[in-house]
Amino acid sequence: MTRATFRVHVDPGRCQGHNRCYSVSPDLFELDDLGMSSEVGPGLVPVGLVSQARLAVANCPEHAISLTELTEAELTEAPEVKAEVRP
Ligand code: F3S
Repeated sequence: MTRATFRVHVDPGRCQGHNRCYSVSPDLFELDDLGMSSEVGPGLVPVGLVSQARLAVANCPEHAISLTELTEAELTEAPEVKAEVRP
């Protein structure tokens, strides 16, 4: 278990369903029935998935994904999340 240090968010107004984010990291993104993406749960990014989150941001052609560092206050209260990476 490790703490999240970043939060990822998909802007639903920009997402066009290219699904590159989900291809890069199905642990961080989920798709609806129309193929539109959203962050999983509150979007907390475990330390072990930060590089995947950055890759998703860089590969979204609509620039719909934001990745923000948690503030000190958020870090203090951030729940622990698994850092497992799917094979
Ligand atoms: Fe949407 Fe970009 Fe992912 S358009 S499905 S957030 S790659």
